Amino acid sequence: MSNVPGNSEKPPIGVIGAGWVGLVTACCFAELGHEVVVREIVQEKVDVLSRGELIMHEPGLPELLKKNIDHMTFTTDMGEVLDRTRLMFVCVDTPPTYSGDADLSRVQQVVREVGDSNDHALIMKSTVPVGTGAAIRRDKHDLAYVSCPEFLKEGTAVDDFMRPDRVVVGADAGDWAGDAVEALYRPLGGEMVRTDIASAEMIKLASNAFLATKISFINEIANVSEEVGADVTEVARGMGLDTRIGPKFLQAGIGYGGSCFPKDVTALKQLAGNSGYHFQLLNAVIEVNELQKRRVIGKLKKHLGDSLVGKKIALLGLSFKPNTDDMREASSLVLSARLRGEGAIVSAFDPVAAERASELLPGVEIENSPLAALEGADAAVIVTEWPEFAEIDLAQLHATMRTPLIIDGRNLLDGNAVAAAGFAYEGVGRPSVGSLDTATDNSSQAPAALGATTE
Ligand code: UDX
Repeated sequence: MSNVPGNSEKPPIGVIGAGWVGLVTACCFAELGHEVVVREIVQEKVDVLSRGELIMHEPGLPELLKKNIDHMTFTTDMGEVLDRTRLMFVCVDTPPTYSGDADLSRVQQVVREVGDSNDHALIMKSTVPVGTGAAIRRDKHDLAYVSCPEFLKEGTAVDDFMRPDRVVVGADAGDWAGDAVEALYRPLGGEMVRTDIASAEMIKLASNAFLATKISFINEIANVSEEVGADVTEVARGMGLDTRIGPKFLQAGIGYGGSCFPKDVTALKQLAGNSGYHFQLLNAVIEVNELQKRRVIGKLKKHLGDSLVGKKIALLGLSFKPNTDDMREASSLVLSARLRGEGAIVSAFDPVAAERASELLPGVEIENSPLAALEGADAAVIVTEWPEFAEIDLAQLHATMRTPLIIDGRNLLDGNAVAAAGFAYEGVGRPSVGSLDTATDNSSQAPAALGATTE
């Protein structure tokens, strides 16, 4: 087989599915010098990508696509991937179903299309339940198979790809494809974890479930800290210096979201349940996260009174985290619906997610600038820690809002500086500072601008 493309130093790469994972994988392998053939079933996406344009926000990716476009082919035709490549990365989505199990229909469709020849290897990047690889191997005896889960974070995905902490390669012992995948990633550095297929599948689910557990844990510490007068940012700093704990993923906030954590935690819980094991800890992780998104309501009522009817609440940030326009499982979705349920008027600003958010947030007034969203507001809620919100001019903000109240859902601001500028401030797991009794209420100063918000 020495003359087949997969054996060359820079073998051509097939990528199946031009979603977020697929495009990051494709552009990064092209940047590393591989020819890349991307198969995508939606013709419009193929057309847009073939012109070198991207339809999502991921820092660094547009540049990589433009630079390497001559080495990338986008096609709807699986035959072209099979003809031109041996190593085919499966990057289709596996969304949750009503039962909590992952929907594997797109993966199964790909498996049907690729045949059963040992000339080809399927490399699974899509997050699948443990046992999926074994089931595919039972069905396709000859096709080589590797589980190579992705650990990319949105917003820093290109960097994460190019500088991985570790690369997990799960394959049957002696399978040529395991070595081929290891060779692809070796130039990037990072620990190489060679293991069996089931363990590789479990590493992905367990890693995300553990990180989500860390977040729910620190969120519960934050909630207790609020009751007993501790500051969770100090607590996290003190905990994180213990190398057994580590400082990362200890930022308390208003809950985790995104395309991975909520889905993967539920999928692992469901996987355990399907085999008769009750994964109690994950139930708590999920419940804490759901409640965390709603705690903002209590903080608003503490300052604005029991009724939020007619109060204008401005949400700063809508995406599930900064540097992405991804709205999947964003805390803003639950929060805005709860606020509207309470009768509040909800306005919002996000630097990049506005377009995606507008379809998902009916009744929310999405504005083009933070100040437009904050005009006449009774409270500002920082939902996503976009760095530009930390730069906001507090004096201008004070003059713009009707009631100077800031609920900082990501502990982005310095509470004392905010209080010194005349605001009441509530973070997460930190002592509240300032109060509306001492803060200046602008409602008597600017009634004309506020007519629409006080009805
Ligand atoms: C995650 C995993 O990190 C990545 O390895 C996996 O492949 C995909 O899922 P991503 O969803 O892009 O990546 O975002 P991440 O940066 O991990 O944050 C997830 C959520 O947790 C965000 O909503 C973020 O705001 C929240 N979070 C994160 C916290 O609330 N506190 C923290 O300390 C860290």
